[in-house]
Amino acid sequence: MISTPSTRQRVLSLLRQSRGWLSGQEAAERLGISRAAVGKHITALRAEGHLIEAVSRRGYRLGMEPDAVAVEAIQAALKARVIGRGQWVWLDQTTSTNSEAAALGLAGAPEGSLVLTDSQTLGRGRKGRKWFSARRSIQFSVLLRPGLPARRLSVLTLLACLAVHKTLADLSQAACAIKWPNDILISGKKVAAVLVEAAIIGGEIEWAVLGIGCNLNAVRAEFPEELREIVTSVYEATGRKLARNTVYAKLIAELDRYYALLTESGSGPLIAEWKQKTNIIGNTLSLAVNSRVVTGEVLDLDTDGLLLLRDSTGTVHALEVGDPVESA
Ligand code: BTN
Repeated sequence: MISTPSTRQRVLSLLRQSRGWLSGQEAAERLGISRAAVGKHITALRAEGHLIEAVSRRGYRLGMEPDAVAVEAIQAALKARVIGRGQWVWLDQTTSTNSEAAALGLAGAPEGSLVLTDSQTLGRGRKGRKWFSARRSIQFSVLLRPGLPARRLSVLTLLACLAVHKTLADLSQAACAIKWPNDILISGKKVAAVLVEAAIIGGEIEWAVLGIGCNLNAVRAEFPEELREIVTSVYEATGRKLARNTVYAKLIAELDRYYALLTESGSGPLIAEWKQKTNIIGNTLSLAVNSRVVTGEVLDLDTDGLLLLRDSTGTVHALEVGDPVESA
C-alpha cells in the first residue's frame, strides 16, 4: 500500500521544489516508488484541491494550492451583530448547504446560524437548476428569522446580492455587476449567485435561508465544459487569488451590515442602493414570466423588492425572486 500521507506529502514537496515540470519517472526514482504510485498520489492531491497539470512527456506541474477554511479564523475576524452569532456548521462535503440550513430552521436553530462546506453534491439554483461547486471556492447558507411578510422575500435576495457584490468588488478590485434577480457577474460571466428559500406560515416568513456560492480560485478547465462560456471565477476573470477565510469574513460582515440596515430602516435604503448599483431603471429586459418571455421596460423596484416591468401592451408585471419551499 502506497497511499500513506507522508509519501503524498513528499510528492507535493517535489512538485513545489521543481518550479516547473516534474516527470513521473523522476518523482518515482526520487521517492523509490512506481510511476503508477506517483499517479495515484497526484490523483489524491487533486482531490484535496491542489491544481496539478499533467502533460505527456513533460510530467506534472503544480498550479494553485488549496487554502483551508478555518472557521475559528473567520469567527475571530468578525464582529457580527446577528449573522454569525448562531450555530456554525462546517461540513467537508454535503448535498446542499441550503438543505442543511433549512433543517436547522425546522429544528429551531437561532437566527444567524451558518452552514459552510467545501463541496456540494446536489447544490441547487433557482428554478431547479444545478449549482456546480467549483474547487477552492465558497458555498454557504445563512439562517434568518426576519419576521417579514412573505411578499418581502425578494428583498432578501437583493440584500445578499448587494453583500456579495460589495465583497467581491472590494477584494478583487474588479468591475462586478449584479444581474437581476440573483447573479453576480465579472466580465459578463457568472461568478456568484444567491438562492433564497423560505418557510412561509400564515403569510409571514417563518425562517429563510440565504444560500450563496462564489467561484473564487477555480481555473477554467475545472468547470464542466458546458458551463465554461457562462461561468467564471474571480481568479480566472481577474488573475487575483482570494483567500477563502478573508472572503468568508468580509462577506458575512457585509451580510450582517445589510441585514441591520433592513431591520432598522426597512427595505427603502437597500432598494435604493440596489437600483443605483445596477443602473437598471429604464433598461429593456426580456424575462421568463409564467413560462413565456416578456420583454419590457424596467419601471422601478417596489418596496417589496418586486421588479416592475412594462411590456409593449402597457401591462405592468411585478416580478419576484423568492423561492418559497414550504407554506401553510
Ligand atoms: C442560482 O444559480 O440560481 C443560485 C445558485 C446558488 C448556489 C448556492 S451554493 C450554497 C447554497 N446551497 C445550494 O444548494 N445553493 C446555494
